[in-house]
Amino acid sequence: MTNISSEKETDVQGTVSEPYFRPRRLGHVNLIVNDTNASMDFYSRIAGFEEVYRVPAIGGGFLSNGNTHHDVGMVQSSGPSGKGRKPGLNHLAFELETEVDLVRGYDRSVARSLEFERTLDHDIAHSAYCADPDGVSCELYADVVKEWRTARTGEVTKPKPVWWPGKTEPVSEKNYHADPEIRRVADAVFHPVRTKHATLVVSDLDQSLRFYTTRIGLDALVRGQGYAILGGSCGEMNITLIQADEGRQACYHHVGFEVASEEELRESISKWTAQGGAVLRTVDHPLRFAAFIEDVDGLLLQFFFDRETGHEAWRKLSVEEALWVA
Ligand SMILES: [Fe+2]
Repeated sequence: MTNISSEKETDVQGTVSEPYFRPRRLGHVNLIVNDTNASMDFYSRIAGFEEVYRVPAIGGGFLSNGNTHHDVGMVQSSGPSGKGRKPGLNHLAFELETEVDLVRGYDRSVARSLEFERTLDHDIAHSAYCADPDGVSCELYADVVKEWRTARTGEVTKPKPVWWPGKTEPVSEKNYHADPEIRRVADAVFHPVRTKHATLVVSDLDQSLRFYTTRIGLDALVRGQGYAILGGSCGEMNITLIQADEGRQACYHHVGFEVASEEELRESISKWTAQGGAVLRTVDHPLRFAAFIEDVDGLLLQFFFDRETGHEAWRKLSVEEALWVA
């Protein structure tokens, strides 16, 4: 049962006194792709992330510039994890402080009959996955190894043991890197620092807000007309929820990759167009400078630099602006 509204802990405003989890931030997006080789090539050579490791059994590929073990993960649609699904979002992943927090949140959720899709031991991180009201899979994970870069490299073939939160003694150390060294793929077209946000069009904004604030434990940082922007304890704008309407169905819309400067992004745009690449949309807004491109499967990527990070200024967008600017 994933019906949050039936929760006893929920008060009349639909807020829970204590959310089940308390993520720091969005850690990565995991995509379903048609061809992992082609996508890995695109995400390193064009999008500018370093390859970290692959998991051949699922057509899995993982890339990172150092913010966490992967900013972008992918599984091939034809593989056992892709299950023949079309290219798109496989899951969003939220980073928790510690595995102790993962176990506590998981146990509290299970005690209230809230279901999880699966739980996994990834060696370097432990995870539990649950679905949002539109069926978008959300991973809650805690790093259990500090030195992820050396722990998983090349091709990983080790089978994953059956695991659930609490099966092993939970790690109480904070294994994320609070101030990570960010690398740069020198020859790439774009130079992202990290995965920073994802935008979802949702069937019912209030219901999704309830899920992401109570079950996942994000804060609603911005509540605009027909949209909301949420973030974890780091206070970053990580998830934008847009109310679906007649012209726009519920869907995963785009991932946002933060870059180091507006000037660098302008150079990347010039380099991309000079080699025949298409920029679908440029956003030159008082709040953000951004460029949208498509990956090899047609999935939307936003490279952006924020001109305004104070949340107050983000409340007054139209829904259309929120979709493309946020
Ligand atoms: Fe993941």
